[in-house]
Amino acid sequence: MISELDGQRMPAHVAIVMDGNGRWGQQRGLKRTEGHAAGEEALFDTVDGALDIGLRWLTVFAFSTENWRRPLDEVRFLMNFNERLLLERRDDLNERGVRVRFIGRRSGRVPGRVRRRIEETEALTAANRRLTLTFAFNYGGRAEIVDALRAVARDAADGRIDPGKIDERMIARHLYAPDMPDPDLLVRTSGEHRISNFLLWELAFAELVFTDVLWPDFRTRHLVEAIAEFQRRDRRYGGI
Ligand code: IPE
Ligand code: IPE
Ligand code: MG
Repeated sequence: MISELDGQRMPAHVAIVMDGNGRWGQQRGLKRTEGHAAGEEALFDTVDGALDIGLRWLTVFAFSTENWRRPLDEVRFLMNFNERLLLERRDDLNERGVRVRFIGRRSGRVPGRVRRRIEETEALTAANRRLTLTFAFNYGGRAEIVDALRAVARDAADGRIDPGKIDERMIARHLYAPDMPDPDLLVRTSGEHRISNFLLWELAFAELVFTDVLWPDFRTRHLVEAIAEFQRRDRRYGGI
């Protein structure tokens, strides 16, 4: 229950690897894509929970730079699915004070119409501050660091920065969402215990919580359980 959480020790930012959709479908004799479709309810129940909890930042891994390796019909389904989800949900999210943002590479293989939905949704919700819901879409942690280094190198070539002064803060300022605090808590569903190229830079000090629940079965109560586990941890950041 949300009331059992310690209000003094809330994570500011929770990041989730929404994994296990394909297996959820297969276990039911359905197509993998039906698992993705069922993940929509999990996502919006989790967003409702995040709003109830008073979380300020929620980031979800929706499509990785590696997911292009999947069969074309699954990739196509995921592009259409994310586009439809934005169209159908953005007004409701906007009314509830949710700022929707995207991190990842916008160009490349993302279809133009999906990119337009992304831009429209970001513009529509830009003034909201209750909860920032960030979709990592065509996102890779290594790609993000490469893109940040390219931006830093451009500034160095133009003489705007001294290479000797490049430090962690400067690199962080060139990430996709420089104002986003690092996640305090990373949750991954479906029993997989890996990062899969998610938020490599930002997760440096995150607490990691894994659950066997497949993403389409994930609900607010699982988010609450993960935060309760987070609150039992002792974060030391290398100190004692
Ligand atoms: C996560 O579920 C959703 C995306 C990667 C888009 P998967 O599709 O990876 O489901 P499993 O891991 O194959 O069961
Ligand atoms: C990570 O899950 C990407 C998303 C959840 C969008 P994957 O299912 O693609 O990761 P791997 O293949 O298990 O590493
Ligand atoms: Mg998976």
